[in-house]
Amino acid sequence: MKKIEIKTPSCESDIYCGEGAIKKVLPEVLGGRNIFTVTDSNVYKLYGGFIAQNFAPLGEVHVIPAGEKSKNYSCLLGILKHMLSAGLKRGGTVVALGGGVVGDIAGLAASLYMRGVRLVQIPTTLLSQVDSSVGGKTAIDLCGVKNIVGTFYQPGTVIVDPLFLKTLPAREIRCGLGEIIKYGALDKEIYVKLIENKNHLKSDEFLRDITYDCIAHKAEVVRKDERESGLRKTLNLGHTTGHAFELFYKRKSHGEFVLIGMYYELYIAVKKGICGREYADSLIELIKKVITVPAYENAAGACRGAAYDKKNLKAGEISMVVPAEAGRAEEIRMDMEEYASYISACAQSLKEKL
Ligand code: GLY
Repeated sequence: MKKIEIKTPSCESDIYCGEGAIKKVLPEVLGGRNIFTVTDSNVYKLYGGFIAQNFAPLGEVHVIPAGEKSKNYSCLLGILKHMLSAGLKRGGTVVALGGGVVGDIAGLAASLYMRGVRLVQIPTTLLSQVDSSVGGKTAIDLCGVKNIVGTFYQPGTVIVDPLFLKTLPAREIRCGLGEIIKYGALDKEIYVKLIENKNHLKSDEFLRDITYDCIAHKAEVVRKDERESGLRKTLNLGHTTGHAFELFYKRKSHGEFVLIGMYYELYIAVKKGICGREYADSLIELIKKVITVPAYENAAGACRGAAYDKKNLKAGEISMVVPAEAGRAEEIRMDMEEYASYISACAQSLKEKL
């Protein structure tokens, strides 16, 4: 097990990562405290015994329905009401035990309740382990727009243990690889490891190793730019178009949309001469190891979705972060018309390849 620390003017966050982390760290992190655990129906089904033994004796457990649909206002209100009726005090601790949805909504509840109570993130999916549990972004969706209501609120502790990956369905591994390949487009060492291991990206050993690397990369970014005024925007690579498609094409999950978004944005970066063909192809090869990229032809829909992106500075203009070369990404802007024409052209080229 390794420890990564994030210290910023407003927070201190300890991230324990690796095999045995739960066993070693959990007793000390929870010991003698009044806790309120938020989890989802999938995790509860799989880990009911673990929850009954470690969390239930220390406070109430709130179970939300599994899935993105739970990232809404009424679910948030349900959590807050339960915290109140459970008598959670300012000195209490909220534990988010689950994937990205649980982490985001429980983190938001922790940041709001009594203006902020201690938060412990225990991510149980690959995606939440490599990305969303670290760095303090919390959110719910509103009117179908992803993560549009939220706070920056750092967890005091994050416990990342690969033991939870044993029960993950294959699709969840694909989802996590979406964010991992994003880190490959930002960090040269991660990129090299991905290329070297491209034929066994899903192996336990590789995932354990790369999880630490992704968290270490993110921690470094968050130390420098906690509130996303500059550098942290790079962690959004692939997300502008990914989130935009997510609004219209419901069947895939977030990590898959990150890869699809990355593919379309790589197309744009190459056409604009920002990213070389060879490097783009090496990233595309990684993307295709994980998913088949669909030809999404709803360019107008993509524009409507991308218009909500938090990086945009003015109406009618889309901002996105695209891969430039190994270890370097660039933020670019374009008007809606140009964006729509790239989305259509990329979808057309995908159709021709089918
Ligand atoms: N998931 C991107 C970030 O935390 O900034």
